[in-house]
Amino acid sequence: MSERFVTDTLNRDDTDFDIGLRPSRFHDFVGQAKIRERLELSVAAAQGRGDVLDHVLLSGPPGLGKTTLAYILADGMKVNIKSTSGPVIDKPGDLAGLLTNMEKGDILFIDEIHRMQRAVEEYLYSAMEDFVIDIVIDQGANARSIRLDLPRFTLVGATTRSGLLSSPFRSRFGTVARLDYYKPPELQKIVERSARILNVDIDDEGSAEIARRARGTPRIANNLLRWVRDYAQVRADNRIVRDVAIQALTMVDIDEHGLDEMDKKILETLLQKFSGGPVGIGSLAVSVGEEAGTIEEVYEPFLIQEGFLKRTPQGRVVTDLCYRKFGLQPPGSQPSLL
Ligand SMILES: Nc1ncnc2c1ncn2[C@@H]1O[C@H](COP(=O)(O)OP(=O)(O)OP(=O)(O)O)[C@@H](O)[C@H]1O
Ligand SMILES: [Mg+2]
Repeated sequence: MSERFVTDTLNRDDTDFDIGLRPSRFHDFVGQAKIRERLELSVAAAQGRGDVLDHVLLSGPPGLGKTTLAYILADGMKVNIKSTSGPVIDKPGDLAGLLTNMEKGDILFIDEIHRMQRAVEEYLYSAMEDFVIDIVIDQGANARSIRLDLPRFTLVGATTRSGLLSSPFRSRFGTVARLDYYKPPELQKIVERSARILNVDIDDEGSAEIARRARGTPRIANNLLRWVRDYAQVRADNRIVRDVAIQALTMVDIDEHGLDEMDKKILETLLQKFSGGPVGIGSLAVSVGEEAGTIEEVYEPFLIQEGFLKRTPQGRVVTDLCYRKFGLQPPGSQPSLL
């Protein structure tokens, strides 16, 4: 099986597969307890006052539930949600079109909001704050600007790279929530819920094994479940137990820590090219062929959380655990007597 196949399969949301799995109410949304509680409370308060929900910015690595929460907010507020994405809105006029078509309280969901053009972003400021936009009509000598009143709406922005948002923009969101990786027991609940929906026969140890290897990410947990289900169907009487999960996941190179290819590449590069570090983020980024900011915001947090990597004032360094993971002796440690 090619590596490409594996990465594509495991990182993709298969639409048919995914639609039924995406929780549509707070009640079904597992984990992220603090964020969930805060958002649920804001919804209840806004509903109680008959008011519009404040703008919400959701940030965090891919697959943790940002889009899911945007839809849950719309469901909770009982409003329409219109969904678009930063790079798609390429001029202020596109935004005006979207905003003038909304009803009071509706949610405009902008995914990848860090990829919106500056000119469009600045245009959003008055819309978010005062619910007006100035549009320029006509050209040349006749050009004039007219002010349009907008219905009060809620902007929900999602980003994997909150570091790229300007502070004036960020400060216009009443709620800023950063989603974090899920703990294995939470992921296990998600796997169990998905298995129920998909009618998959799985035992506790089978779901725990998938959860442990899901890189803290619900999307990956669901995608691993889908792969293990296929494997069990062909090779194991349609039932997922621990051994079946391990065999299926080993077949597609998902190791016991659930590290993906880029995670491994970052750690191996640090070990092999930089003798374990310290190395500056810029040099590391060039070596692995990824943007420094993406490494910092998308990959590193998981590697740090799992104890493979540390940030020091001199740069990134790998930990003893990382040496051991790759079958190497950590420097300065006693050679094993065994
Ligand atoms: N808390 C959760 N409970 C159960 N399932 C979840 C949860 N969060 C996410 N999922 C599942 O994971 C999938 C991916 O989540 P979602 O699309 O919301 O991620 P995202 O943060 O928007 O990712 P991206 O940054 O790639 O857009 C969802 O379709 C859903 O099935
Ligand atoms: Mg999303």
